[in-house]
Order: sequence, then C-alpha cells, then structure tokens
Amino acid sequence: MDIYVAKNAGFCMGVRNAMEKVLKKLEEAPHTELYTYGPLIHNNQVVQYLEERGVKSIEDFKGMKGSMVFIRSHGVPPNTYKEMEEHGIEISDATCEKVKRLQIITNRRTSEGFDIIIIGDKNNAEIIGVLGFANDRGHVVNSEEDIENLPKLGKVIVVAQTTQNVQKFNQLLEILKKKFDVEKVYDTICDATHRSQKEVLVLSEKVDAMIVIGGIHSSNTKRLAELSKSKNIPTFHIETQEELPFNEIKGFQSIGITAGASTPDWLIEEVVESVKKLDKSNKVIKHDFDN
Ligand code: F3S
Repeated sequence: MDIYVAKNAGFCMGVRNAMEKVLKKLEEAPHTELYTYGPLIHNNQVVQYLEERGVKSIEDFKGMKGSMVFIRSHGVPPNTYKEMEEHGIEISDATCEKVKRLQIITNRRTSEGFDIIIIGDKNNAEIIGVLGFANDRGHVVNSEEDIENLPKLGKVIVVAQTTQNVQKFNQLLEILKKKFDVEKVYDTICDATHRSQKEVLVLSEKVDAMIVIGGIHSSNTKRLAELSKSKNIPTFHIETQEELPFNEIKGFQSIGITAGASTPDWLIEEVVESVKKLDKSNKVIKHDFDN
C-alpha cells in the first residue's frame, strides 16, 4: 500500500503560535497555574497534554483576579477584553493574526456605515468574536436559505470565516452578488486553509481512501473530511490512531493521510506508523500538491 501524507497536514501558523506562547510561559513560570479561555485548540489530546502541565481551560473568569488567562487563536469579542480587564485578569492574547485581520476589516467597514455579511458558521467561536466587532451590522450566512432570510440591506461588504470551505464561499458569494449591492469582497479565508483544502482535493484524486486526523469538533478538520467525501472516496475522520478502522483500510492500494490545523505532529506520526505496520511493503510518500 502507498501511504500519501499531506505535506501541510497539522498545526497551522496560528495554532503553533498559540501553543508556543503557552509553552513559553510555562517554561518561564513552571509552577504557576495558567488558564485558557475555552480549550486552547480543538484537539482533546493537546488539551489533556496542557492540563497535565497545569494549564486549565475555563469558561468563566469571575473571581480570578490576578490570574493569567490566554485568549485562544479564534479570538473573542471586544466586550470580553473589557470584562477581563474589569475582573483584574492578566490577558495574554493568542488571537491568530488572520483572525485579527478579519476583526479589523469588520470593525472598520461597519464603522463606515456598511453592513457586513460573513460567510461562516454562526456558532463558531471565531465568528461569535468577529460579530462583536461589527457594530450591530453583522450578518452570518452558511447556506442559500440563510441568504434568503437576510433582511433588506444597502451596500454590503462580504468576508469569510478564516476556515471556510473555499468552494462553498465562492458558491454563496455568487448568490449574494445577485441579491445585494456588494461594495467589496475580502477573501479572509487564511492561507493555511486554502493550502490544506487544495491539498486534500488533489490528494483525493490519487488515493483509494482518506484518513483525516483531528478533533471531532474542529471545523477545519470537518471541512477537510467533507471535501474528501465530495470526491466519493471512503473517508475516515479520526482523532487518534486507536480509532483507525484497520479492517476497512487494509484492502486499499493507496491511502491518503491529512490532518486539521489543530492536530499535533505526534498524533499524525502515530497514525502513519500504525498504517505502515499493516503490511511490510507499505511505503510512505510525503505528498506535495504543487508537484
Ligand atoms: Fe489562523 Fe488560519 Fe490557523 S486563521 S488559527 S492560521 S487555520
């Protein structure tokens, strides 16, 4: 069996920076309890790893005066910064710079009087944060039906959740352009998302089946699995090597392995090693979609 491992699988720049920020603080102050406002990344294994080192995920910071709390890469609405300050929290901001760009565009263009349409998932933490910057002029859509339900709007700005499915963004954008007077479109889907989605599409043309490793709640991992499925190949979304469906995958001639932006290298390695062991003739190929 040929095992193709996607070159861009795993941690994106934003997640890597957030992890490094927390680990650096742990090194500087090994016995301090540190907190993250919500799980630092959508990966249970990494969250557990951090917990074992004293980094706790919290949902509420009231009564925690003087504690250091990390804001994760998804970002938060502006009133959360304010509330944290009022509660005497020492904030360490690990918001990804690509998310910050989206927040800045949203704030600037809505301050200028435009409504903003965000193509994304309204329940996603990043989008909840971004909406806070929209001066009550933000609208989130994720389907044609959502677009039909939008109120009458003047000139609009269109942006995307940083991890949005590129095809879906383009498809919904075309519908929006027919219905609204679009002043400007900002493609705020981040480079890491563009790369990993393109890669999974190219890879799924080459292989008989795909393994996608990443948190069950990680939206970018779910999108990679969706894209692979859209190419009509068997796709297995797993969190760890223990979930590998060995009986199903051992019959394939070739298998692709990719991972979401919050999946650490060690989890990817474990999966590759387990698949390799299925047969002595298995060989691992690092897949570069540009070639
Ligand atoms: Fe940032 Fe993109 Fe990762 S927005 S957190 S680099 S998926």
